[in-house]
Amino acid sequence: QQPVRIAPSILSADFARLGEEVRAIDEAGADWIHVDVMDGHFVPNITIGPMVVKALRPHTAKPFDVHLMISPIDAYLEAFAEAGADTITVHPEAGPHLHRTIQRIKSLGKRAGVSLNPATPAKMLDYVLEEIDLVLVMSVNPGFGGQSFIESQLRKIEAIRKQIDKLGKPIDLEVDGGIDRVTAPRAIAAGADALVAGTATFTGGPPAYAGNIRALRGS
Ligand code: DX5
Ligand code: ZN
Repeated sequence: QQPVRIAPSILSADFARLGEEVRAIDEAGADWIHVDVMDGHFVPNITIGPMVVKALRPHTAKPFDVHLMISPIDAYLEAFAEAGADTITVHPEAGPHLHRTIQRIKSLGKRAGVSLNPATPAKMLDYVLEEIDLVLVMSVNPGFGGQSFIESQLRKIEAIRKQIDKLGKPIDLEVDGGIDRVTAPRAIAAGADALVAGTATFTGGPPAYAGNIRALRGS
């Protein structure tokens, strides 16, 4: 298995200095930059849109892992693709036709991800897994950083790891929410190969970022 990728969520960054924060986590060893997009409708919080993603793009060459928590979803895919997203991840509940949404993301030349809320079963992936590049298991209810890891999601990670291995395709299995030094190794043991971390990355400010990221990697 390849070493785990760490994707700091800029939701926990200083929003008044976002460009600097993105450069700081890049230098601190982040693999991907996780961008949480919330609309105050699909989830009870509002964050940033495509204009901010575009403004951040020149600040790093690392892939932008864009997690869309907005609905309806389809009208915004192109804007995020043009703004510089590398992976675009959507929730099945955010639109009426998940398969079509995935096809649109692929036709825009981007990697497609599907994210499952804590109550959404792994079965939701049965007829789309072969089409996608990434599965994002939510280990908290989406909307806010700093929540506690929901234990039952470990079973879901294990089940999806089996589905991916059976399919034999290089699909990333990423976990998002409540990841820290205690839960990171448990998520990895369950089969995760990418971890989102907001609070655990940004705690302590820029001088702490590299150590925080290393601790999550377990090295
Ligand atoms: C929650 C977001 C997460 C969140 C993670 O809706 O999708 O990416 O920022 O934050 P922490 O790591 O603080 O749980
Ligand atoms: Zn996220």
